[in-house]
Amino acid sequence: MKSRTLGKDFTVSAVGLGCMGMSHGYGKPRDKKEMTELLAQAVDFGYTFFDTAEVYGTPDNPHANETLLGEALKPFRNRIQIGTKFGIHFDLDSTATNKPIVTDARPAGIRQSVDASLQRLQTDHIDIYYQHRQDPKVPVEEVASVMADLIKEGKILHWGLSEVDADTLRRAHAVCPVTAVQNRYSMMARWYEPMFPVLEELNVGLVAFSPMANGLLSGRYDSHSHFEKGTDYRSIMPQFQEKNMEKNQELIHWIQELAHQKNATPAQISLAWMLCKKPWIVPIPGTTNLGRLKENGGAADIVLTQDEVRRIDETLEQIDMSDVFGGSKVEK
Ligand SMILES: NC(=O)c1ccc[n+]([C@@H]2O[C@H](COP(=O)([O-])OP(=O)(O)OC[C@H]3O[C@@H](n4cnc5c(N)ncnc54)[C@H](OP(=O)(O)O)[C@@H]3O)[C@@H](O)[C@H]2O)c1
Repeated sequence: MKSRTLGKDFTVSAVGLGCMGMSHGYGKPRDKKEMTELLAQAVDFGYTFFDTAEVYGTPDNPHANETLLGEALKPFRNRIQIGTKFGIHFDLDSTATNKPIVTDARPAGIRQSVDASLQRLQTDHIDIYYQHRQDPKVPVEEVASVMADLIKEGKILHWGLSEVDADTLRRAHAVCPVTAVQNRYSMMARWYEPMFPVLEELNVGLVAFSPMANGLLSGRYDSHSHFEKGTDYRSIMPQFQEKNMEKNQELIHWIQELAHQKNATPAQISLAWMLCKKPWIVPIPGTTNLGRLKENGGAADIVLTQDEVRRIDETLEQIDMSDVFGGSKVEK
């Protein structure tokens, strides 16, 4: 697969693999043996960039995803990059499917988190370490200075912030240069585009999460799709509610038509659109299936001209679409 460089020198596969759904948020965790095999097949196919977080798991196995990656990717460790995240936990007392997020970026906690993640990932360094959400109680400068120390100690090579705005990014970057932000970005979630000039100015990459609007843009789901209540976040996501699925048909049909013209699939078009928009965007689509993993990786080879990207943007502005999931509530 083609590669891309984020920030000054962080080179990763042009499409990364989001691993969350293997252990968290999309129904029951998948079979460990199957996912271990899938991760090896991903490396084989050319993925080098793997995304996880300390909180991807279930109440009875809260760090399952890091543990899975640690074991599965150990044989390939010297030729892949792992991104993980710190600074939140879920409010397990809540009965909501998507439990509210509790932030905690106190320096001592970060130090405990990094050591635990290194252990679970069976590695001596994390390639990129993201603050998962801002903690209003801890200034970002303080977090950035912990990151500078961790870089000096060799525990992390790069750092980033997830769901971060331009002002916070500037403050963080002034203390310790940021390599990439990891924000929600898809054809249905374009609210970070006004931040692009700042990313360009600071030479900070964008790792785009939920790049297919949690799968909706692939055209695979319809109003009859069933998502398990309690374990599958999609059961409460606005874009998958029956009425909204109907509303989103126009969008889906239009992407299907674009895909047909480009001899591609809708999932590939939704990824190629962002890949061709900026050379510093790396989507990390999530999948638990080998065919879809290859399909998504194939998006790196699809070429859309700047004119085609602009025309897609114009249509996206006009097309009527539902709200899209914007993330779980963050408890202050
Ligand atoms: N920083 C953050 O706060 C944050 C938040 C959410 C996610 N993330 C990261 O971003 C990654 C990706 O986001 P996401 O998983 O939420 O959303 P996504 O990548 O937009 O969509 C994933 C969903 O789409 C389905 N899918 C994938 N490829 C497909 C294809 N080619 N055709 C049809 N369906 C396809 C997957 O199902 P199958 O498994 O059945 O293929 C899965 O249910 C996560 O894994 C995680 O690492 C980060």
